[in-house]
Parts: sequence; C-alpha cells; structure tokens
Amino acid sequence: MPRAMTEPVPATDENLARAAALLRAGALVAFPTETVYGLGADATRDAAVARIFEAKGRPAFNPLISHVADMAMARRLARFDALAEALAAAFWPGPLTLVLPRAEASPVSLLATAGLDTVALRMPGHEVARALISRAGVPLAAPSANPSGQVSPTQAVHVAEGLGGQVDMILDAGPCRAGIESTIVAVDDGTARLLRPGAVPRGEIEAVTGPLGGRGPEEARPAAPGMLASHYAPRARVRLDARAAQPGEALLAFGPSVPAHDGPVLNLSPAGDLREAAANLFAMLRALDRADVTGIAVMPIPREGLGEAINDRLARAAAPRDAARPA
Ligand code: TXA
Ligand code: MG
Repeated sequence: MPRAMTEPVPATDENLARAAALLRAGALVAFPTETVYGLGADATRDAAVARIFEAKGRPAFNPLISHVADMAMARRLARFDALAEALAAAFWPGPLTLVLPRAEASPVSLLATAGLDTVALRMPGHEVARALISRAGVPLAAPSANPSGQVSPTQAVHVAEGLGGQVDMILDAGPCRAGIESTIVAVDDGTARLLRPGAVPRGEIEAVTGPLGGRGPEEARPAAPGMLASHYAPRARVRLDARAAQPGEALLAFGPSVPAHDGPVLNLSPAGDLREAAANLFAMLRALDRADVTGIAVMPIPREGLGEAINDRLARAAAPRDAARPA
C-alpha cells in the first residue's frame, strides 16, 4: 500500500518536539537550514541512515554530512586540529562543512561516512536546525532533501514534491536564506582543501587558511565522492552562458539588461547581486522546468565570490545526464 504523502508543518515548539522524538525513533525528518532543506536521520544509527539512502535513491558510496548543535557534540565525532578549530570559530554556526579525521570513538554510522576515515561536520546557522539537533540529542546525518541528482530544495514544498512519500515529517520555516549548499573544506595535517564551493565564498575562507589547495572551479575531477558531473539537474536541458533564449526555451536571466524573449523569463537578480541570485537559483530552475519548454537558457553569471558556487551548480545542472547522478 502506498504510504500517505507527508505535508509540511510549521516549525513550532510542539512540532520540533515531535520531530525530535521521531528522529530518536529512527525516522526521517526534513528540516530547514540556511542553505537548503536537509533530509535528517540519527547519524549514529545504521538503520536510520540507510533510510536516507533509500529515500533519495542515493548511491551508498556517497557519504553524508553530520549536523551538530554545538562544539561539544562536534568534538565527539571528529578530531579538530588548530586550523579546524580556527575555521569552526570563524564560520560556525554557518554554511561551512569541515571534513575531518574521525574521532577514535566517533559514534557516527559507518554508512553515513561511506566507510571513510573522515567525517563531514556542519553546525547549521539556522536556529530551527540547531534546536532540532539539540532536542534530538544526536547528530543528524542530512543530505539535501531531494531525490538523488535533482535540484536541491530551498522551500518545504519542494521537499514534499520530491520526497513527500518517503519522509515522516517536513518542518517548514520558509525559504532558505542562502539557497545554495555549504562550502566543503577538508582539513588534514594543518592544510585545507576546497572540496565544494558553496555559500561561504572562497575568499572568506582563504582569509583564515591562506590560499586553498584542491579543486578549482575549472577542475573536473570529483574531490568529494558526491561531486560527479550531473547533479542539481532539472528535467529540461540547461544551456549556459546564453546571450539570448531560442524559441521554445525558458530564460533564466541575471542583471539589469535582459534580452527580449517571447517565453517564460525569470531573473536571478535584476540588480546583479550574487547573494540574491544564489538564494533564487534552485527555486527558479524548478519554476522554469516546465513540460512546455525545450530547455532553460541561462545568462552568464560572474565567477567571483558566490558566483563560483552558482556557476558550479549550473555546470552540473547542464552536464550530460548519462553521468552518475549522486545526491
Ligand atoms: O548545505 C549543505 O551542505 C546541505 C545541508 C542539508 O546541510 N547538505 C548537503 O548534503 O548538501 P549533500 O549530501 O547533498 O552533499 C554533501 C557532500 C557530498 O558531495 C558528499 O560526497 C560530501 O559532502 N562528503 C560527505 N562526507 C564526506 C567525506 N568524509 N569526505 C569527502 N566528502 C564528503
Ligand atoms: Mg545534494
């Protein structure tokens, strides 16, 4: 029998208490963060973590981020050297994920880390997320709450559309303010590498670490196991650096001067503001992903600051679909 569709509920105190109880019982709860909505489960329970992979259709070789409420919880899961401490002090709570060596007695499920000897940790900037983790009393493994390979959810209704049949509860706290996933930095032996550009621009991290090694925007090789080519992909074909849209296409514009187009047009930021563009990116890709368009033409977006992460996600949205599609 197909299970009932789960609808979003407001993130009230009462619903947070229910959500925490569900999580402690091994259930799946989607919750807001400042980046995108996460699909959460108790990171210390194999069976609960397995449900995440199953719900998303995510390959098990792709590890999950464990979300923590405070530094005490973080230190039980991973080892922090001086550089990791400095990064946590500078950016937590906030949209930075640190990949660190597993702590000796780390309770994180080996399924969540895909058997690696590192663990990805993040202390979310969203108060609802931290309140939920505190109340559950356990770290929450949480990928973006979308079917594997598809566009990440920045509103609770997006979660319901993609995973409403799989998730036990969806906490709604409105649209995500950053709208693009966390920046992922691996810290190993006092050196930092950028694994995924994200909501904290590279320059802000380099102010703490010095020049980051690792993947640059031009480098195609996946550094995080989940960084394979096709990802964040709408159904419609995505065409980048478009100066104008073709007949039949939808246009995703950026900035004040938009070419005339006889079809659907949305503007990521009429003012040309990258922060606004990041916040709008996934919701606008979804809105333009209509059955009556032949594709989505995307105007050029500058590459500096948050533009690195925006262009990274757009490149994956435009990548050939036969590539493996992790979450
Ligand atoms: O903003 C975010 O990071 C959101 C919210 C929900 O926190 N989460 C998110 O999770 O984007 P997900 O699963 O969609 O992406 C996590 C990425 C994947 O590319 C995965 O391969 C990588 O983190 N990752 C996780 N653990 C890792 C590890 N130990 N080493 C290297 N990469 C890791
Ligand atoms: Mg994802």
